[in-house]
Amino acid sequence: MITALILLLVALVALGIWFYRLMNKNKSFYANIPIPPTIPFFGNIFEVASTKDVLDVLLKYAKNYEGIFKIHLGPIRKVLVVSDYKFLEFVLSSTKILNKPYDYNFLRPWLGTGLLTSDGRKSAEMSVIAKRRKELENKKKEIHDTHNTVVTKNKKVFLDLLLEATVDGKPLTQEEIREEVDTFMFEGHDTIASAISFALFSIANHPNVQKRIYEEQHALFGENKNPVITYASLQSMKYLEQVIKETLRLYPSVPFYGRQTKEAVEYNGTIIPEGITILILAFGIHRNSKYFEEPEKFNPDRFENVDGKTPYAYIPFSAGPRNCIGQKFAMLEMKSTLSKIIRHFELGPAIPQHKLQLAAESVLKSINGIKIGLKKRF
Ligand code: HEM
Repeated sequence: MITALILLLVALVALGIWFYRLMNKNKSFYANIPIPPTIPFFGNIFEVASTKDVLDVLLKYAKNYEGIFKIHLGPIRKVLVVSDYKFLEFVLSSTKILNKPYDYNFLRPWLGTGLLTSDGRKSAEMSVIAKRRKELENKKKEIHDTHNTVVTKNKKVFLDLLLEATVDGKPLTQEEIREEVDTFMFEGHDTIASAISFALFSIANHPNVQKRIYEEQHALFGENKNPVITYASLQSMKYLEQVIKETLRLYPSVPFYGRQTKEAVEYNGTIIPEGITILILAFGIHRNSKYFEEPEKFNPDRFENVDGKTPYAYIPFSAGPRNCIGQKFAMLEMKSTLSKIIRHFELGPAIPQHKLQLAAESVLKSINGIKIGLKKRF
């Protein structure tokens, strides 16, 4: 009995020491970074737990603490929240801070239950991948059997590329392929849907902006509402591009994203230890009056002549070595969809006028919807 008690005591002490060490890990680094008021043990977790409050809260502290502060998510987890220009430039351009936080899951309350966690979809995807793998194998066999030597240079679809890809001579596993497909589906679908929705809202509520988009369409296609759209015609939609850029400034589809140091790095004479989670608050720097005059105002003209002096102040697609690989395609898709809508419909504010309630879920959303009025153009 006494032995059991002693063992229990030893275990408790060991646990206590382990916990204390975790709580105080990197204490001297964090000591100099400001923190908003905390609740004992829980830290700031309650303030940032709600997807609909988190942006306002982080924006408020970003202003109060001039772009660099930390938050505590419980007694152990600490996150550095950054929207300071110089620090963003350092983090995003670094070739040493390329990792995503090892558990993007700590953002779970903010991310919501996105498509990525849907098991039903997962098994459907797995069977599509398996079926296509079989088809490709059969096709290869057929070509081999008939000694067909014709080399086709057709462009391959994404899934076929993944199925044929190898890493160190080994094909990707079913699970790895599914992860890649998920990344593209998630990064490339919801982000664009979010941006298009906020663009429609902004256009509907800014008649002068809409007029200029329509005039640009008219200059390109005249009265033709269903022209054949080419890459060149999309490139010519310069004003629409400014509108999309301004939409992504005020409503970045991914309002914040993470990085994790995998080794100690030096910034401005301070050593940032390994394992620090950095939250890049794009939403914060996009609404900073130092970089954007009257930041709350929707004004596509601000993108007419960008001098390029502060590239890290506008980061809806992130920047540096881990930026969005789909951004050019995204711009084409958004232009194509929005221009078609504007050619066919006149947008107006909803009645009664709708006020957005922004929420940072898997992507930026408005939890009370995005309401606009539509009138067919004849
Ligand atoms: C409005 C549309 C889009 C926005 C705002 C957007 C934004 C972003 C952002 C902010 C990141 C960095 C995320 C992070 O560091 O955690 C990212 C990464 C990525 N995006 Fe996009 N994206 C868009 C559309 C697309 C499209 C259409 C595709 C593909 C077809 C795509 C594919 C990717 C991929 C694969 C990554 C990961 C890159 C990496 O981890 O190195 N995105 N995107």
